[in-house]
Amino acid sequence: MSALHDIAETLVAGKRGLLAADESDSTIKKRFDSVSLESNEENRRLYRELLFSTPGIEEYVSGIILFDETIRQRTHAGIPFPEFLSQRGIIPGIKVDKGTVELTNFPNEKVTEGLDGLAARLTEYKSLGAKFAKWRAVITIGENMPTQACIDSNCYLLARYAALCQAQEVVPIVEPEVLMDGNHPIEKCREVTYTTLKTLFSELSKYKIDFSGLLLKPNMVLPGKEFGSKATPEVVAEHTVKILAEVVPDEVPGVVFLSGGQSPEEATLNLQQINAYSQMKWRLTFSYSRAIQEPVLHAWAGKKENQEEAQKVFLKRAKLASLASVGQYNPSMETAA
Ligand code: 13P
Repeated sequence: MSALHDIAETLVAGKRGLLAADESDSTIKKRFDSVSLESNEENRRLYRELLFSTPGIEEYVSGIILFDETIRQRTHAGIPFPEFLSQRGIIPGIKVDKGTVELTNFPNEKVTEGLDGLAARLTEYKSLGAKFAKWRAVITIGENMPTQACIDSNCYLLARYAALCQAQEVVPIVEPEVLMDGNHPIEKCREVTYTTLKTLFSELSKYKIDFSGLLLKPNMVLPGKEFGSKATPEVVAEHTVKILAEVVPDEVPGVVFLSGGQSPEEATLNLQQINAYSQMKWRLTFSYSRAIQEPVLHAWAGKKENQEEAQKVFLKRAKLASLASVGQYNPSMETAA
């Protein structure tokens, strides 16, 4: 078995999933603003240490995606975060894209930057302990959007990123996120997600990516946030699973969903239903940021006296997401002691 395959398998094995804690400076500032906390380097370090040191999370969390600043930071006792996580049996990973910019000539569509110099950055991240990486592409649904040009350029970049990662035995997580923003029905999201994933796997194949050494991080198929009504978990699961069955090659070890702005309860229940819907060839688990962290950050709000409570909230969310990844979650567990 290849080293890449080993890492990818370990990340999705058993009942575990991933925590995305790789918010860029501008994103973490937005999150901290919501609890009136200043986003400075020490507050960011304190928050990440709270997450990483939560007792018991290694039972539910196999890997944590870090941001450039975080992978260089240390615990209060001076242990580099990647080493601290590895000692706990949690695999450190790194976000390597540099965010999105407008796609020139395509108003309101985005393309992700970060390919220039990526090989050298990967070498450094690897020396700092990263075993896997993440690159997020964004596809927007709207009037005459997405264009095939936007999908094509983003999927090409994901494939080039994946090739550079695999050349250094870093497992690429490929994340083409079809955004929930908009007032479209679920069928529109299904159609766009299908086209995006189909294009993605065709590009990955063209650039000779080893499917057994990567993970897919897709959105669930959902109606737009401003659409009149929500879809039931059964409908979300049916659309999502059918697309994956059609487009994801058998060799891919696992699918790790993003939460995309769903509430923690929604993201957990939808993952549960996806796993209840059918036994798939791959593990279907989580790689959530907001659907795990939102209540944790609110419980903490930057106050030392809230740390223990915030860690309890994190452990609970990670445990419930883990149960959903093996089809054993029930909403009644939300209120259980
Ligand atoms: P959300 O779960 O908040 O969508 O974030 C996942 C992620 O890693 C986005 O790149």
